[in-house]
Amino acid sequence: MKFLVINGVNLNMTGKREPSVYGVRTLDDINADLRAFCLKNGDEVDFYQSNIEGELCERTHKAEGEYDGIVLNAGAFTHYSIAIRDAISSVTVPVVEVHMSNVFAREEFRHTSLLTAVCKGEILGFGENSYKLALESFRL
Ligand code: DQA
Repeated sequence: MKFLVINGVNLNMTGKREPSVYGVRTLDDINADLRAFCLKNGDEVDFYQSNIEGELCERTHKAEGEYDGIVLNAGAFTHYSIAIRDAISSVTVPVVEVHMSNVFAREEFRHTSLLTAVCKGEILGFGENSYKLALESFRL
């Protein structure tokens, strides 16, 4: 299978920002592990990160017909981006929503996701392993 892992706003700061919440490993570290994980499973994987809402929408559009699944951690956009929700709805490639932290154990504004309803499913609270679990979910 061929996967695209998309990280949204502020996820480029992983490893530096709020290490007690998101850990000390950088996004590059996490992506390197995910690449090895996919290789072991015989899968292909590409990575994309942007802090810009429209760029995340465009990358989602371009994924149509090219990938079997998208793993998406939209960061804070999750909680208010109608544009990213509509981008997910615009393509047939299934999207699994991911969060490293357990958003339901955090501030109330993180309890709402505009994306979950148009995603195949959601995985959260397992730190960087949330991404691996999301990749595995495409095989179920
Ligand atoms: C996050 C949770 C969001 O609420 C937050 O804005 C993030 C990261 C997570 O991975 O836990 O940037 O998506």
